[in-house]
Amino acid sequence: MSRPKVRNPQSTIRNPKMWGGRMAKPLDPTALAFSTSIHQDIRLLPYDVRASSAWAEALQRAHVLTQSETARILRALKKIGRYPPPPEELSAHEDVHSYVESRLRRMIGDAADKLHTGRSRNDQVLTDVALYVRESSTRIVDKLRGLARIFLDRASREKKNPMPGFTHMQPAQVVTLGAHLLAYAEMILRDLGRVRILLQPHDACPLGCGAIGGTTIPVDRFFLAQRLGFSRPTAAAMDTISSRDLVTDYVYALTITLTHLSRFSEEIILWSNPFFGFVRLPDDFSTGSSLMPQKRNPDLSELTRGRAARAIAALTGLLALQKGLPLTYNRDLQEDKIYLFDTVDLLDAALDVHLKMVPKLEFVRSRMREACAEGFMEATDLAEYLALRGLPFRQAHEVVGRIVADLDRRGRRLRDLTPKDLQSYNKLFGPDAVELLTAETSPKRKRTYGSVAPAEVGRRIMRLRMMRIY
Ligand code: ARG
Repeated sequence: MSRPKVRNPQSTIRNPKMWGGRMAKPLDPTALAFSTSIHQDIRLLPYDVRASSAWAEALQRAHVLTQSETARILRALKKIGRYPPPPEELSAHEDVHSYVESRLRRMIGDAADKLHTGRSRNDQVLTDVALYVRESSTRIVDKLRGLARIFLDRASREKKNPMPGFTHMQPAQVVTLGAHLLAYAEMILRDLGRVRILLQPHDACPLGCGAIGGTTIPVDRFFLAQRLGFSRPTAAAMDTISSRDLVTDYVYALTITLTHLSRFSEEIILWSNPFFGFVRLPDDFSTGSSLMPQKRNPDLSELTRGRAARAIAALTGLLALQKGLPLTYNRDLQEDKIYLFDTVDLLDAALDVHLKMVPKLEFVRSRMREACAEGFMEATDLAEYLALRGLPFRQAHEVVGRIVADLDRRGRRLRDLTPKDLQSYNKLFGPDAVELLTAETSPKRKRTYGSVAPAEVGRRIMRLRMMRIY
């Protein structure tokens, strides 16, 4: 008994022939609206076109397409890639893959129907995403390199300029602005390396894994990998189809960078507060208040800090998305792109802002130097001075602790001490001990590898520059 043929309007409008044979009715419009992803994944269009072109060539080599069919498909795909659809046309399609297919059919007719032989949207979307990640990561690594260079250049110029260093957000030791900025350069350089290292194992082409376990069509996956610029095809189809490790690793790497930018933002927010007064934001990167005429607000830094929260949410979202999924493809996985694109966009924009803003930050060196006089930050140096003269450190700590307590009670500072005062606390204090009590001395006297000493900071900057990180 043959079933009556029901015309499926979906087959000509919304889901042209994707599964027109199986269902007697088209997808309910509400159901379609719920499941569509075209508004997000349309940005995969150039990659979908590239992957589809490689697939057409592979099908020709497998004798599924003739030479002239392949040529027609390739020509049409090129055009489709060149003219992205107007937004109002998007809603008629479920996703970028069905959009490309339906346009292709409209352009070249039946030959288009052959293109989907042996492939599934499951391996297609993975291939598109892998290409997107590769391209966006190259751009992001370039921006990171630029930002590292900015931090290193500024660090180099500020390596002798003292500023208060904090632990627990309390005055700790005098450091230099150069050492502080070098710390951010180090973070960014690590971020840059992390993107590369985490993506390296994913340099493999998913295309040809089909819906779950490969295809009976003899396509050459090594050819596909080479054509699309991957070093090899992925090794196990079921793992490939179900895995979103690439997206997760990438979002993780980007989220760390956003976390670093967020920490820097926090410093800028504090430092630009007049009670600190360590930095003046450039006019074109400050915002005012509609009510309070005196205001100069660090909104860009606050937004960076706020958006880092979104990246962290994306990373946890991605992990939560995957944790309960049995092999292999589950439609839940469609949601990965929302997290991926959001994180890439956030970081791209935050890096653009910092690439322009950081070179223009006006550090107020005099204010930083002044601030070094407060908070008894030379105390450790005094204790170490005694330790170097043979007093056990715990005892030296106590001597200096007493000095600080006395001064604190009298509202005086360490640099108010005379050699005689120091001697009265401990005979090991020589007349040279007061020389420790200036802002410049402390960083300069540091002796260890990696310390804040201007010579060490300079050596490290030179080393990083020699490593050709930029
Ligand atoms: N839009 C889908 C996604 O991103 C494409 C794959 C759809 N596959 C499927 N079997 N429905 O996951």
